Amino acid sequence: MTGARILESLGRKRKSTVHFLSNPMRILAVESSCDESAVAVFDAARGLLAHSIFSQVELHRLYGGVVPELASRDHVRKLVPLVRTTLAEAATTPESLAAVAYTAGPGLIGALLTGAALGRSLAYAWGVPAVAVHHLEGHLLAPLLEAKPPPFPHLALLVSGGHTMLIDVAGPGAYQLLGDTRDDAAGEAFDKSAKLLGLPYPGGPQLAELAATAPGDRFKFPRPMLDRPGLEFSFSGLKTAVALAVQAAPLDAARRAAIAASAQAAIVDTLVRKTLRALEQTGRAALVVAGGVGANLVLRQRLHESVARYGADVYYPRIEFCTDNAAMIAVAGMARLRAGCTEPLAIRARARWPLTELEPMS
Ligand code: KG4
Ligand code: ZN
Repeated sequence: MTGARILESLGRKRKSTVHFLSNPMRILAVESSCDESAVAVFDAARGLLAHSIFSQVELHRLYGGVVPELASRDHVRKLVPLVRTTLAEAATTPESLAAVAYTAGPGLIGALLTGAALGRSLAYAWGVPAVAVHHLEGHLLAPLLEAKPPPFPHLALLVSGGHTMLIDVAGPGAYQLLGDTRDDAAGEAFDKSAKLLGLPYPGGPQLAELAATAPGDRFKFPRPMLDRPGLEFSFSGLKTAVALAVQAAPLDAARRAAIAASAQAAIVDTLVRKTLRALEQTGRAALVVAGGVGANLVLRQRLHESVARYGADVYYPRIEFCTDNAAMIAVAGMARLRAGCTEPLAIRARARWPLTELEPMS
């Protein structure tokens, strides 16, 4: 089944309202939960029509991390122009939209409020429903944008800047958390190791690039929690090990690359081994890898090999839809719209919002 067909079948399970019957199923989506301003237009029948992302990386680089107030102000500047250009690129007028979706959480509250205020207001002005989307559900459903979408049920490994989770996905919206991180997330482990090596923000992709130039076995960094049963993660010890290695001897180019490669190997190894354990435990035959760290090529390669050997299939969004984007918010918004989940006339955003609080969609 294609991603659009899966969304179609979700719609059939509920009574359509007059509104849905009289409008083509096309949705505008806004993402502003952190440091990317993004807008997308998605059509249930034709797929993704256009999407744009403005990254605030340059704005925050000077500070070595995201400055929430600067992020909010920049979303205010960028979102409206992005809505205009993305609608134009999708050859879409507001009259042909069935709804407006926006990321309502979790994330930086000020940043979320800019997108929620814009999305809710546009929906009100255009007389269509507003759909509040959970950012992590967006990541989880991003592979529905691909030609070969994952089947349900499946296991999901969600690895981003703020989360490291193994989730049993019985169906869209039905998420059971199997394992979480006790401290730092996988993306944070990449970013903090990168910072210790003097790499500029955002560190994850930079560390991955440097790691590609050296073998990953020179430093034996800890693979925490592997010696214990269960599916929990812990990455804060890695940061300490990397800091000690950085201080132990002068940091020439070869040593920096070896530390980067060894840190990446420790993170990837831990993720792969816990994921295999979760596959065995659940008996699921399909794995979805979602979130920014899912863009890591070594992780993709290792998972591909190990999961194939185990006898399951792996599904990823394309690289550009692993990190934050509005296309994934549009897909999740479309699924929620078809399931009848729309917002009242209020601008609501939640900095914290457990994924398991979501209602199943079918
Ligand atoms: O999903 P995402 O864009 O934002 C959150 O929702 O957190 O994930 C961002 C995280 C950052 O920690 C970033 O360093 C990491 O994903 N990341 C990577 C790579 N690309 C992004 N980490 C390792 N290798 C990459 N290629
Ligand atoms: Zn994200």
